[in-house]
Amino acid sequence: MQRVDRLFANLGAPGAVVSLATPVDDRWVASLTEGERSLVARAMDKRRREFATGRRLARAALAELGHRDAEILSGPDRAPIWPGGVAGSISHCDHAALVAVTDAARATVGVDVEHRSALKTELWKSVFLAGEIEALERYFDSSSRGLFALVLFSAKEALYKAQYPQTTTYMGFSELHVTIEPERDRASGRLVCTFQNDVGDASRAPDARFPAGFVAEGRYLLEATEHVRVATSVLIPRARG
Ligand SMILES: CC(C)(COP(=O)(O)OP(=O)(O)OC[C@H]1O[C@@H](n2cnc3c(N)ncnc32)[C@H](O)[C@@H]1OP(=O)(O)O)[C@@H](O)C(=O)NCCC(=O)NCCS
Repeated sequence: MQRVDRLFANLGAPGAVVSLATPVDDRWVASLTEGERSLVARAMDKRRREFATGRRLARAALAELGHRDAEILSGPDRAPIWPGGVAGSISHCDHAALVAVTDAARATVGVDVEHRSALKTELWKSVFLAGEIEALERYFDSSSRGLFALVLFSAKEALYKAQYPQTTTYMGFSELHVTIEPERDRASGRLVCTFQNDVGDASRAPDARFPAGFVAEGRYLLEATEHVRVATSVLIPRARG
């Protein structure tokens, strides 16, 4: 189990988010609670293994916030149900699981992990805006473009998971514009996620809607650990101006 708190560096208060990654492993299936096991009773082995690794990792991260032996069930919308006062996010792929947890009064968070080396060009038009494709072509050469397309895709998934607890609203890929701002060696960088239309319903709660133009920030890390090729995060503060 490795700390990847730097996935949240410069996002929110320093140290406010606990983020961990670990390789996917069958042995965590035995550590599921009865309720969690029932959620994957009919799942394929791969799904059960990834789900169990995510739960194991989430329990470890929650323990750092003072919540011991928490059971993390899922709602009908598949979103994880966190202990009271916690906001968190889980992601897994064949190789690794990644989680982040924080104080729900401060922010909601989203994470995503990928172990592919690129996002195939055939998929770009269905997940990216024309401006995002233009930026990929302008700022990244042919040797790195596929990898940064994967970062962009992953960022959209992370944003989706971060916004959902606030809005409980589905959001399509074309409803978000993401800009990647690599840091010096390109192994990490900032993600600027701009909502393209209103998402959510403010009549439910004042912060249950993001207006068009709202900007959420995130980060990406390449090769964060031996098993994590691409990791992305988004943090959305609760108090919004
Ligand atoms: C929900 C979704 C983002 C998950 O991503 P994924 O690549 O399929 O899988 P990941 O392993 O990264 O994430 C799976 C985890 O997401 C979490 N999750 C599922 N639905 C969620 C939701 N509505 N809100 C927050 N988290 C959710 C769960 O913890 C799940 O793991 P678990 O079932 O083991 O608990 C994806 O399936 C989806 O529905 N995407 C369409 C919406 C979207 O991405 N829009 C882009 C908007 S800009």
